[in-house]
Amino acid sequence: EQWRSQIWLSLLSALSLRLVLPGGAEEGLEFPNFDGKDRVLDISERNYKKALKRYDLLCLFYHEPMPANKGLQKRFQMTELVLELTAQVLENKDIAFGMVDSQKDAKVAKKLGLEEVGSLYVFKDDRVIEFDGELSADTLVEFLLDVLEDPVEIINNAMELRAFERMEEDIRLIGYFKGEDSYYKAFQEASERFQPYIKFFATFDKTVAKHLSLKMNGVNFYEPFMEEPAVLPGRPLSEMDIVEFVTQHRRATLRKLRAENMFETWEDDMDGIHIVAFAEEEDPDGYEFLEILKDVARDNTNNPELSIVWIDPDDFPLLTTYWEKTFKLDLFRPQIGVVNVTDADSVWLDMSDDEDLPTAEELEDWIEDVLSGRVNTEDDDEFADDHENDHFVPEDEEEGDQDPDEEDDE
Ligand SMILES: *[C@@H]1O[C@H](CO)[C@@H](O)[C@H](O)[C@H]1NC(C)=O
Repeated sequence: EQWRSQIWLSLLSALSLRLVLPGGAEEGLEFPNFDGKDRVLDISERNYKKALKRYDLLCLFYHEPMPANKGLQKRFQMTELVLELTAQVLENKDIAFGMVDSQKDAKVAKKLGLEEVGSLYVFKDDRVIEFDGELSADTLVEFLLDVLEDPVEIINNAMELRAFERMEEDIRLIGYFKGEDSYYKAFQEASERFQPYIKFFATFDKTVAKHLSLKMNGVNFYEPFMEEPAVLPGRPLSEMDIVEFVTQHRRATLRKLRAENMFETWEDDMDGIHIVAFAEEEDPDGYEFLEILKDVARDNTNNPELSIVWIDPDDFPLLTTYWEKTFKLDLFRPQIGVVNVTDADSVWLDMSDDEDLPTAEELEDWIEDVLSGRVNTEDDDEFADDHENDHFVPEDEEEGDQDPDEEDDE
């Protein structure tokens, strides 16, 4: 929780900087400025049902009561500002935004099933989607636009097929059906449960299906970075068949950390650790290292114990210095290591020789050592003199912001 709020704070400060950047003399690139109009509703017993009914999406931030501490009040207002700006940008979409106070509106929260203070919940039809990503206006807008879309995209021709085949970072499913009025319906129902995190596609076209070796009513599952899909067992498939298969297979062998669900990914650790690889895709070394990682992932895709979190530092500029400090790393070069998610203690594979990235075999040996415990974050602890990670105190059971984490108020 604490880790999360600290990151939110830093992300929010960046947002506010952007807000004060002056617009240039030329038109066409104007970042929205908050216009001062209140769009975010104060949700209460009186208005929540109406809001639920009236809009395509209702986006609710479930929060602690306004804190007494000034610094925390500021943080609170910045969160509100992110929502206000998002609401403003999406003004012509049918989305309502609201704040739910965990004390004042406890009854409403219970009725709506809001559980985690500090979380954002999106209501669409009769479903609730928890947003577990970076709370910045950019990420939130993108996320909400995805949620507004139909959960299944139809692939009609070779061009769309090529685009589909290039989406190697995503978990994707594609099914072949006779038409909308068919077993497609079960597929569509299943897709709604995973929107927008897992991408669902369908085709009614014989040529497209043939290219993908899809049989009528068949569904393929594509794990990120794998060349061959898994075929879901059975035809036709019920909604539950699909939901169960996806639930079982959604932790990929190589998964990319993304702003839209970064906290969910991080919380899905493997017995308290993550194997983390930093690689900039745009950088030649990073690219090459990523190719090696993909090879390793493909070779080990059937090992349920293995999941590597790939972080492209380019995607998280605000976190880069924090990671460098916490993990004592140089993120201008590729890195792979083990991170203990309890205390952020970590060990990293020595790749100091620039010319010589590890081969797939060397990487696999190292991963084997990690999985067997030979390489771990604990062994070096007695020698470490600077063990305490002063910027990472996650063992706080309190939800929210009791602790002002050394913020200076004045
Ligand atoms: C992670 O760190 C905690 C706290 O130092 C420790 O108790 C735990 O055993 C570590 N977990 C692993 C898997 O090394």
